[in-house]
Amino acid sequence: MGFFITLEGPEGCGKTTQAKLLADALEAQGRKVKLTREPGGDPVSEDIRAILLNGPDHSVVDRAEVFLYLAARAQHTERVIRPALDEGAVVICARFTDSTLAYQGYGSGLDLDDIRTMNAFATGHLAPDITLLLDIDVPIGLARQKDWNRMERKAIEYHERVRQGFLSEAGLYPERIVMVDASRDIKAVYADVMAAVMEKIR
Ligand code: TMP
Repeated sequence: MGFFITLEGPEGCGKTTQAKLLADALEAQGRKVKLTREPGGDPVSEDIRAILLNGPDHSVVDRAEVFLYLAARAQHTERVIRPALDEGAVVICARFTDSTLAYQGYGSGLDLDDIRTMNAFATGHLAPDITLLLDIDVPIGLARQKDWNRMERKAIEYHERVRQGFLSEAGLYPERIVMVDASRDIKAVYADVMAAVMEKIR
């Protein structure tokens, strides 16, 4: 079995950059690495991503939105993540189950236990071996964004609930979720990310 790493955090936390740096470093160690993201990572899931992120504001109701994220996840897990893990790869995924809890749960107010059940169903109970939570102040993170997608255009209060949601989940799962202060420069953040991964990886 491989090793499953997820990166999470509010908008503009730098997870895409960190995921890439981490993938390069692990590859340089001679490991097989699969770098991917959610929503997306598979042709069907990327189509769903386009519906979710490029659509006009308010076009998707909250209960439909959660199913779309989970449909994308089910497809991506079965077609991409599990096969890569079965081949012994390190899978690095930007966003996964915690994003659904933070955004659709804490952010939109859908029931958290329902979302936990749906996440388990969509992934066939697959959980990350480690999750890096790149924490950042909401205004700082949003200020880093250029083209705002449908999610990023939601109110600042929504994004504050999302951030607090991530922090709450980190409190619930301290064994899995490692919090990293992402307000610092890329190198400092990367040093913490790499140290946390090297401590856990086989
Ligand atoms: P990003 O990963 O490129 O930042 O954009 C993905 C957006 O989708 C981001 O605003 C977070 C949001 N999202 C959810 O709301 N729920 C989810 O389950 C996932 C994976 C992402």
